[in-house]
Formats: sequence, C-alpha cells, structure tokens
Amino acid sequence: MCFHRMTIMADKSYLLDGRIHHYVVAHSLREPEILRRLREETASHPQAIMQIPPEQGELLGLLVRAIGARKVLEIGVFTGYSSLCVALALPTGGRLIACDLSEEFTKTARRYWKEAGVDDKIELRIAPAIETLGKLVDEGHEGSFDFAFIDADKTNYQHYYEYALRLVRSGGLIALDNMLQQGRVVDPEAKDDSTLAIRELNDKIARDQRVQASLLPIADGLMLALRR
Ligand SMILES: C[S@@+](CC[C@H](N)C(=O)[O-])C[C@H]1O[C@@H](n2cnc3c(N)ncnc32)[C@H](O)[C@@H]1O
Repeated sequence: MCFHRMTIMADKSYLLDGRIHHYVVAHSLREPEILRRLREETASHPQAIMQIPPEQGELLGLLVRAIGARKVLEIGVFTGYSSLCVALALPTGGRLIACDLSEEFTKTARRYWKEAGVDDKIELRIAPAIETLGKLVDEGHEGSFDFAFIDADKTNYQHYYEYALRLVRSGGLIALDNMLQQGRVVDPEAKDDSTLAIRELNDKIARDQRVQASLLPIADGLMLALRR
C-alpha cells in the first residue's frame, strides 16, 4: 500500500481525497480564532506534523461535551492544540492533567492556554508519561477521569492504555491517536517499532472485554474505547 507522503503531511486525513476533506472541514469545523492562530503558528514548527488536524480537535471537544467530562487526562501535548480544544470544552471547574516530556514544545501551549483564559484548568506535568501516570495512581486518581486522550510515543501506547483503563471511570472514554499509522498497519512490509506496537494494541483492543471500541478513519485513525 502506498500513500503519498506530501498528501499525508498536508492534512493528515489521508483517507479522504482533497475535495472531500475540504467539504468535511467546511461542514463541521467551528474553530475559534485562538485555535486557528495556534495552528498557524505550529505550522511553521519543524515537527508540525505532530499536531492533530483541526477536524479532529473539533471531535475531541464534542466528545468532552457529549459525555459531560469534568476531568480529562492528555498524554502528548506538543504546542497545545488538542489540549486547548479539550480545555475550551470543559465546564467551569473542569480539570485537564496534561503530560509531556518537553518544556520547549509546551512553552507555546502554556502561552495559548493563558491567552485563552483556561490555564487555571490545566495542570502540566513534565516527565516521562509513564512516571506521571504511576504517580497519578499513587495519588489516588484511579477511576476519576472522564476522558483520556493518548497521543505520544507509540511504543509506550500499551502502557498508556493500561494506565488509562485504571484512571478512567466506568462509562468514561479513552481516545488513542494515530491508530492507522498512515496505513502502515495493513502493510505487511511495515515492521518499524511504532507500527508493530500499534498493530498489537489494535488487536488487543479489538478483543478487550473491558471496553467497547470503535476505530474511526479520521485523521490518522482515532480509536475510541468506552470503559465498561
Ligand atoms: C504527537 S505529539 C502531541 C500532539 C498534540 N496532541 C497536539 O494536538 O498538538 C507527541 C508529544 O508527546 C511527547 N512525548 C513523547 N514521548 C513522551 C513520553 N515518553 N512522555 C511524555 N511525553 C512524551 C512529545 O514531546 C510530543 O510533544
């Protein structure tokens, strides 16, 4: 299977052709001005490809609102696009615990959170996410999150998923990004560590009786797992 790299880098919803993608965005995206500015600033970052596309951000905000989430976990902040989508959707008094390794990437995120007036809702924890997740369990957060969004190093997704299952309440949602690996999950030639890890996790979630799951072909594949 061959996907054109430039197409992937342009919008990440590579399963849709340009016209359909444009139509989807035109008929679902209501991106606030501050999110548009953050996206435009991030576009000139050398690792801009890491940011979720705006139509996925819209979906995250919708899900947060739909389940009435008040407490959210994010693993993988980068410049803050997804976290800002979530924080803007949280009610007053809502809380987002956001995990990342990089002070440098998240400097931009902090700036936008403050400007958007949601910085008081967000607690950023800078450390390897596995350490932060272990601490959250130790601190008594088990079963207390309504929603978790996983979007960091793919080879640790298995661990992030298991921690999310402990931290998210019954009836809460876990969303995992990049679960199609730009189509590599179905390419028998693709044997890189990330693809192997994601394939294994997709297989596991498909059989996992602890969740009801749906793998959405939006962006680079978004797995939604509803905690039973
Ligand atoms: C794909 S980006 C996240 C994009 C973000 N969700 C957005 O919408 O812009 C992945 C992030 O995970 C962080 N990361 C990578 N490995 C990590 C680890 N072991 N622990 C915590 N964060 C990690 C990176 O620093 C990077 O900011």
